[in-house]
Amino acid sequence: MTRICFVCLGNICRSPTAEGIFRHLVDLHGLTDQFKIDSAGTAAWHVGKSPDARSTAAAARRGIRMAGAARQFVAADFERFDLVVAMDADNHAALSRLASTDDARSRLHMMRDFDPDSPPGASVPDPYYGGSRGFEDVLDICQRACEGLLASLQDGTD
Ligand code: 4NP
Repeated sequence: MTRICFVCLGNICRSPTAEGIFRHLVDLHGLTDQFKIDSAGTAAWHVGKSPDARSTAAAARRGIRMAGAARQFVAADFERFDLVVAMDADNHAALSRLASTDDARSRLHMMRDFDPDSPPGASVPDPYYGGSRGFEDVLDICQRACEGLLASLQDGTD
């Protein structure tokens, strides 16, 4: 069992998109029982809310279901997940501040670092204040990174 938590700022756009895509991918590969998949936000503003309707609609057009209620990431999540995957550099910095041990720090990753064609340290851009293109870009970027993440876990490189 591999436990993965995707993390963005609000937990209503990027990280629930990543969660939905990764869940869809493991289901397609028949690996559903081998993963626990969750998402969270570094901020508390949207706690309890459903994913953003713009994200949900864009995902649904690709057959990806987004669900769940937003929650804030807490330090104890580093013990509950093997991989904590930050969407951008700010999220990564906030998570680093919560990671108090080497073990916790070793679990923290950047989402796009799982996409071999993405520059090192690249972010998944925040779509919240932009137009519809941003939500499509988040889906494209998360799809590539999720495929890379699953491949790296299957190779044993992570
Ligand atoms: P997310 O997007 O971090 O991908 O869920 C955002 C959601 C809300 C806000 C910013 C980004 N906000 O400022 O409320």
